[in-house]
Amino acid sequence: MHIINRRILRGVAAGLLLALPLVLIAHEYDPENAEEINEVCAGCHDEYGQGGKQGKYPRIAGLPQGYLKRQLLLFQDRERPNMPMVEHVEKRELPLSDIEDISIWLSRIQLKTKLPPVDETAPGFDAYARLQEAKKLMQVPRSEGDTKHGEKLYHRECRSCHGAKGMGNARKEVPMLAGQYTQYLWRQVKRFLKGERIHDPDEPDDELLKDFTHDELRDIFAWLSVQDD
Ligand code: HEC
Ligand code: HEC
Repeated sequence: MHIINRRILRGVAAGLLLALPLVLIAHEYDPENAEEINEVCAGCHDEYGQGGKQGKYPRIAGLPQGYLKRQLLLFQDRERPNMPMVEHVEKRELPLSDIEDISIWLSRIQLKTKLPPVDETAPGFDAYARLQEAKKLMQVPRSEGDTKHGEKLYHRECRSCHGAKGMGNARKEVPMLAGQYTQYLWRQVKRFLKGERIHDPDEPDDELLKDFTHDELRDIFAWLSVQDD
């Protein structure tokens, strides 16, 4: 009796130990929960995460899941400043499971830059569907600068991490720069230079952007801003 009990117990214990990492790692995605959370975010970042007010609110749609999660945790821990979002990212408001859900949700939104042409007089034209599609559009306004010079600099200095066309790198959790508002990007450059944000989490002491003049960054941003034209 004793031996069997102990054996069973040992089996149960081993099973628990095996299952523990799974419980810790696996997060069951709950899209309905994500949709509900997004209603809060949409108050500033718009319904499909397009952002707005010329970049006062950045685009958050289509950013890498891991990047989104990291930023939300940084906001929560007050390691990245963001006054407007403070109350929305407190642990009580946004526990880890919510951060996981909303990060997956937002990372899967694909924004178009143009609507395909359609014949609105054709039979079967669905005006409502077209309107919904139009809501998912986002075009970054062109910013001033020498795009040729910007392209050269970008390819030499930024491409290795931010991708060939500035669309970021999901696997490496690097955000897009193309398709993001230029004014928002400038604000982040200032945050990096002031040490309020860390540019490269793998090399926190690296001050990459310090080596660039204002005009060089202006040209890089000008080239990025026409990538979605
Ligand atoms: C009251 C307005 C407001 C609400 C609501 C809000 N945000 Fe934000 N969010 C901002 C502002 C402003 C910034 C830009 C901060 C900065 O300039 O560094 C920002 C930045 C971000 C960023 C960083 C983007 C990047 O490229 O690094 C993420 C991610 C983000 N918000 C996600 C969310 C999510 C998810 C929600 C909903 C849970 C949310 N936000 C709700 C105002 C808001
Ligand atoms: C070694 C890799 C690397 C290189 C090279 C690099 N970046 Fe980054 N960059 C990153 C990472 C990683 C982040 C996200 C930081 C974080 O997680 O908070 C980032 C974020 C940014 C952001 C903020 C984006 C946002 O949505 O908030 C800007 C702006 C930026 N980089 C500009 C540049 C420019 C301009 C260059 C070229 C001159 C450049 N980066 C080169 C890795 C790099």
